[in-house]
Amino acid sequence: MDTSNIALIRRPPRSYRDFYLRHEIEIDLTLADRQHAGYVDALRAAGLDIHAIPPDERFADSVFIEDTAVVWQGRALRTRMAPHREGEQDAVIDHLRQTHEIVTLPPTATLDGGDVLHTEDITYVGRSSRTNGAGAGALRDFLGPAKRRVVEVPVDRCLHLKSAATWLGDETLLVAHELVDVSYFEIERVLFTAEGEEKAPNTLRIGSHLLLLAGNPGSAATLWEFAQYRDLTLHTLAMSEFEKGDGSLTCLSIVM
Ligand code: GLY
Repeated sequence: MDTSNIALIRRPPRSYRDFYLRHEIEIDLTLADRQHAGYVDALRAAGLDIHAIPPDERFADSVFIEDTAVVWQGRALRTRMAPHREGEQDAVIDHLRQTHEIVTLPPTATLDGGDVLHTEDITYVGRSSRTNGAGAGALRDFLGPAKRRVVEVPVDRCLHLKSAATWLGDETLLVAHELVDVSYFEIERVLFTAEGEEKAPNTLRIGSHLLLLAGNPGSAATLWEFAQYRDLTLHTLAMSEFEKGDGSLTCLSIVM
């Protein structure tokens, strides 16, 4: 975690608003731009260099760049996403190709980056509406050379595995127990989000910085104590316009 030095990001296209309006969800694009800029500022403050992939109006959800690729030790696995998102990967993979070996999925496999949760020694993969068994298997093959074990976790109460659980570092997982069965995780130290704070599990730890979502006071108290004990800098970010699109903190970058 401490060796990360780059974040890939992609600013929201104008079509992000139009797409959600068709689903009767109103996005305030000015606020979305401001929230996204605040997020990028927090990544910079955490010491990351920002590589921005140009926005693409054809892909309304492309701000959620995490779903397009899984990056590990000089290699990048191109994912296969929901039909309305297929194609978002092209520009990201073109960028990654300059520095990484690119690996592709077999034809029947589906996988979203939001379902991939790395801990110290195990990678958990959500079996969700977005990631199937072949996708989980392809991830296992991809991480095989790095000798990482891949453990599957059923996800049926939220979009992605990382909607329900994220890695806080220091051998600690943050979980919303109402969203995922915690018994799948082979981890001793688990912190739980507060009841009813369904967006709170999605945090992003970068070195000595921890990004968390505003508006979850019960979970924030737990995270504040975790951070204070380890001398972490907390960044509490309001991301309402991305929560409306079922996105959150991890979705908005690929940290590598
Ligand atoms: N709206 C986020 C996604 O569909 O992946």
